[in-house]
Amino acid sequence: MNNRRHFLKNILGGGMFLSLQAVPELSKAGPFVSPFLEGQTYDLDYHVCDEDLWRKVRGAYAVSKTTLNLNNGGVAPQPKIVLEAEKKFLAFINELPSMHLLRKLPKNRIFLKQKLADIAGCEADELAIMQNATEAIHTIVMGQEWQAGDEVVLSTQDYSTVKVGFEQLARRKKIKLVWVQLPVPVEDDATIIEAYCSKFTARTKMVLLTHLTNWTGQIIPNDVLATICKKAASKNIFTLIDGAHAFAHIDFKVSALHCDAYATSLHKWMSAPIGMGFLYLRKDKIKQVWPLYPASEKDNFRIEKFENHGTISLAKEEATHYAIDFFHQIGIELKEARLRYLKNYWMKALAQEEGIRFYTSSQDRYACAIGLFSVEGINFRKVAKSLESQYDIHNTISVFDQISGVRISPNVYTRTKDLDKMLWAMQQIIKDR
Ligand SMILES: Cc1ncc(COP(=O)(O)O)c(C=O)c1O
Repeated sequence: MNNRRHFLKNILGGGMFLSLQAVPELSKAGPFVSPFLEGQTYDLDYHVCDEDLWRKVRGAYAVSKTTLNLNNGGVAPQPKIVLEAEKKFLAFINELPSMHLLRKLPKNRIFLKQKLADIAGCEADELAIMQNATEAIHTIVMGQEWQAGDEVVLSTQDYSTVKVGFEQLARRKKIKLVWVQLPVPVEDDATIIEAYCSKFTARTKMVLLTHLTNWTGQIIPNDVLATICKKAASKNIFTLIDGAHAFAHIDFKVSALHCDAYATSLHKWMSAPIGMGFLYLRKDKIKQVWPLYPASEKDNFRIEKFENHGTISLAKEEATHYAIDFFHQIGIELKEARLRYLKNYWMKALAQEEGIRFYTSSQDRYACAIGLFSVEGINFRKVAKSLESQYDIHNTISVFDQISGVRISPNVYTRTKDLDKMLWAMQQIIKDR
């Protein structure tokens, strides 16, 4: 145990009251008070494996009683307080839709953006609310002035629908896609930097970098991203980071990555309502990107030009305040450490079984919550299906490049005894091989 002590402040304070001013019914309830860590001191090395503490965190979620959820990477469950807030705001909107939805609640968006910007390490006027990472990424990709022959550097390990977007663009605008193929896993910074930067040419217009991949949980470390982005900037190449899986999962500040744009979903690791995300776009790049939904010319320099979504429910934005406050009650340092601890816990134990192959790094720098494995002599689909149908353990599979396996992703409400259950199930599956 090291002797670093951390004091967990109640950082919610007036912010929540302020953001809910328009909704007196809810502001009466006051800010969310953490049932677990608030006001205590914590020690990272101790609390990361303090199952009593994480049991309290678990109590904040409505966890399935029948199925063990080990696919939190796809979309995360919301803490009860977030779901309740969303329901209450939906009811509030429905009382007087055109007054509450169209007049009162839009005023709160700026507070939400400020809270997100504080976490992301950017300015609120560089941040646009989006429905998800897909919308944020396609806003950037489709909003450029592409010329035939322009080149984009991207990786075979980028997300499937993101790749599809670029492939469509290649057909439509005759741009050239230049593919990076990284080792699986990759555990060497110089290899990553070289893989991307060696592909830059005078025709390269954009580079796409996935901060943390969905396939294996591979992380491109923050300082490696910064090195690539700086090299790209020196060649006038636009840098777009897909952070769908990284935000609220691992610690970073977007400003330290030196990218032009950063896209994320908030319904993954932030546990916000489904259909929430944001786009960060560096202030000096706003004017050069066309929005997906048209905006007036006077707004050309303003980030709000990307928020012309038409009428949408703002209940999810209001409930996102609660997700952010919940996130702060744990803090990114402890959350990241716990997620990595859980992944290392099951990977180390499973490594004892014969014929296990991992595609995820066991080095902390290159992975956090997500892990991918396969078992020699058993088809990965059979392993995934057995876990689910015989042992009620929800999981998913990854199939990319020449690799296929079973993906496991716990969350802050996962207990080590849940992972023991999965490990026991794996022993039975391997025994029956
Ligand atoms: C790396 C990555 N990028 C983008 C996305 C798209 O996210 P969303 O479906 O929330 O838009 C995902 C979804 O899993 C992803 O894993």
